[in-house]
Amino acid sequence: MKYHRIPDETIGRLPLYLRELRLLSQQGRQNIKSGEFADSLGVNSAQIRKDLSYFGAFGTPGVGYKVKKLLRQLCSILKLKNIHKVALVGVGNLGSALLSYSGFAQFGFEIVAAFDSDPNKIGSIRNNVTVEDTSKLSTLKNRGIKFAIIAVPASAAKEIADQLVKAGITGILNFAPSCLVVPKKVKVISIDIAIDLARLPYYSRVTLNK
Ligand code: NAI
Repeated sequence: MKYHRIPDETIGRLPLYLRELRLLSQQGRQNIKSGEFADSLGVNSAQIRKDLSYFGAFGTPGVGYKVKKLLRQLCSILKLKNIHKVALVGVGNLGSALLSYSGFAQFGFEIVAAFDSDPNKIGSIRNNVTVEDTSKLSTLKNRGIKFAIIAVPASAAKEIADQLVKAGITGILNFAPSCLVVPKKVKVISIDIAIDLARLPYYSRVTLNK
């Protein structure tokens, strides 16, 4: 089944729903009313209903959502039923932190390859992953790796993205402050914590010094 014209914001919220459902499931909850589910997520229940409505009918009036069933359905929609192997490029401060972050596993992601251009890092083992020379990026094609994380300086990001695309990568999570131009078949999601931080003062009640 193909889903069309679904807002990115909706897709962005589905993993939040998934994470909360997994927690509820671990707590042994069978059902959850839509209001309670919304409260636990800090969103309104109409938003959740609207988001889910793009994919079909979910939940039963008076009963709410069946936790395990909705969990399975969201995993299926997001294509998170299988383990996804991920390559990391750039094993510096950020890359090293990402390599040791255990939170990717909850969605089935595993960083199984790491690359860097620094000869002092190539060959070292970080979190059971051997750092490889970036000249080996082309080998990703034969290793069943479709997703990559870019954590190199901005000046190197475009070149790395090109190499990843050539190596058959179809999804890139980009941390470098650089706009990547890739073919349509490749999805790039860029993350910049500074951009999120820059929104905080607007919402807070701080008084700015004049
Ligand atoms: P870092 O300097 O500690 O690490 C960069 C790593 O990339 C080094 O290991 C270096 O050897 C490697 N590298 C450089 N050129 C390369 C190339 N052509 N191929 C492969 N590896 C290469 O820097 P840090 O602090 O880890 O930051 C990495 C990137 O992430 C930067 O672009 C930085 O601006 C960005 N960043 C983004 C954040 C965000 O919220 N999006 C937060 C922190 C950093």
